[in-house]
Formats: sequence, structure tokens, C-alpha cells
Amino acid sequence: MAHANGKVILLGEHTVVYGVPAIAAGIDRGASAVARPAGKASLKLGKERVDPAGGSEIARAYSALSDALSAPPLAVEVELEIPAGSGLGASAAIGVAAARAVIEAGGAGDVLEAATAWERVFHGNPSGIDAAAAAHGGCIYFTRAEGPTPIRLIDPLRLAIAVAGPPASTRQMVESVARMRDRRRELFDKTADGILSLVKNARLCLESGDTTGLGRLMDLNQMLLSGLFLSTEEIENACRIARDAGALGAKLTGAGGGGCVVALVEEDAGPVLEAWKSHGLECFGAEVHAREPAP
Ligand code: PMV
Repeated sequence: MAHANGKVILLGEHTVVYGVPAIAAGIDRGASAVARPAGKASLKLGKERVDPAGGSEIARAYSALSDALSAPPLAVEVELEIPAGSGLGASAAIGVAAARAVIEAGGAGDVLEAATAWERVFHGNPSGIDAAAAAHGGCIYFTRAEGPTPIRLIDPLRLAIAVAGPPASTRQMVESVARMRDRRRELFDKTADGILSLVKNARLCLESGDTTGLGRLMDLNQMLLSGLFLSTEEIENACRIARDAGALGAKLTGAGGGGCVVALVEEDAGPVLEAWKSHGLECFGAEVHAREPAP
């Protein structure tokens, strides 16, 4: 059985597509996969059977992945442990778990390359941060040019994650930011400069154990993401509920336009989770520990 992490982006989503660094953390919930030798290739995602020769988006993504791994015919089954399209890196987690399972069953090649080939079919122009976080776990500093660098955490990060709104398409959200960047380049560049300094400072906070500072930087990142029209009323509400319940900071994670909110807490995620549940939000806690990169 192969496994891959889900992820949250602590700071820097979207601008990471344009070369600005971002910080992501792998969470234990993600995806698991098994692959068994078979006469004919097949793929099952949860209860859904996908015909690998059927031409659907998932089928094309699977052939990109299996080509990258020179895979023999395999029956691959994947189970997802996080909501899809919600900023927790579900598609990258599926890609990494499936790539690992295919390699365990006789494929050969690089997990990240295969997962990135899978991601490209869905997102067109992925920065690669989701696949890197899904494969590495722990906390990573990521740039498009340099890839992931593990951040040595002084203390584990304690997070609370809520499904604040319905799923949104990462492709559409990335395209909407691209249009905004074309129309209002100066404003976009100022926002990107702002996010760059937030990310750099957040790395220092993580390396020195300053969670209060990190929380403030996450709040500021949320403001700048709202300025790019990526937030929604539901996301703002979930952030406010978390802060009122004692979170050090809260923001959307991933593409925005719906999906999940991540809140940073000092010690105990309980009060934030209780507050969200009392507003009817589905939520869970996650801890992130320093971890060496996995192959
Ligand atoms: O919503 P997700 O989990 O697919 O995260 C996307 C992160 C973006 O920065 C918005 C896109 C990217 O490719 O980095």
C-alpha cells in the first residue's frame, strides 16, 4: 500500500505560479493506492471506475503518469482521505500515491515527475508545489525554479482545517488571477512583492518557533489574497470564527474561490474545531513535524 500526503499552503499560493516562493505543509490525511499486475490496465478512484483508454481527463492524466513510469498493465485502486477541489492538494496526493504504487508493482522512474505529468493534465500550468508537498511531507519552502527545500521546524505546527465552501476549480482560479495580472499588472506586482516578504518572514518565524508572528503573516496573506478576488464570504466567515476562537492566524489554502481554510493554533486545535462545528462546518486538526524529504 502506497501513501501520499495532502497539503495546506501556509503562505504564497497563486503568486508561486509566477516564481514567488511559497510555504506548504504536508498533512497525514491524503491518498493511498495499491497496484496489482493485471492482463489489462484499470483504474479505480474510490467507487468510480475509470477506463484508462476512455479519453476522459482522469484517463489522460493516468496515461501521462503511467507513461512517465513505463508501467506494465496494472489494476490501480486509489482511496482519497481529503475532500477534492478544496485546496488540500487532493489531485497531487492521488498522483503521488498512484505513482508510488505503480513503482512498487514494477514501474520505474521519478515519483515527482510522474505526479507532475498527472497534475499538468488537470491544471495546465501547475507550479509543482502540491506534488512536492504530497511527496515530501513536513514543511517545505518552494519555488518554481528551485523546487522544495525542507524547513527545519523548531516546534510541530498545530493546525485546524475547515471545509468552508464548495469545491472550486484550480484551473479556473489560476486563470482568473492570470486575467487580473494582464489587466492590472502594477497592482498584481505590488501584491506579489508583498507576498514575497510575508513568505520570507514566515520562513524565519518557522525556523525560530515564532508561531504568533507566523499567524499574523498568514492573516496578512489572506488580506492580499482577498485583493486578488480569491476569497469568498464563507472563507472570510470561517477565518473570523477561527480567530475569535483563539487561532493565531487563518487563511484560505490553495486555489480559493471556495474550499478549505487553514488556521494556526498555539497548542490545542480543540476550541477552533468546536467553534467551526457549532457553525456546521466539517473540520479536523492536523500536526506537522519536521521531516527529511522522502524519495
Ligand atoms: O487548490 P490546490 O490544492 O490545487 O492548490 C493550488 C495552488 C496554486 O498556487 C493556486 C496553483 C499552483 O499550481 O501552485
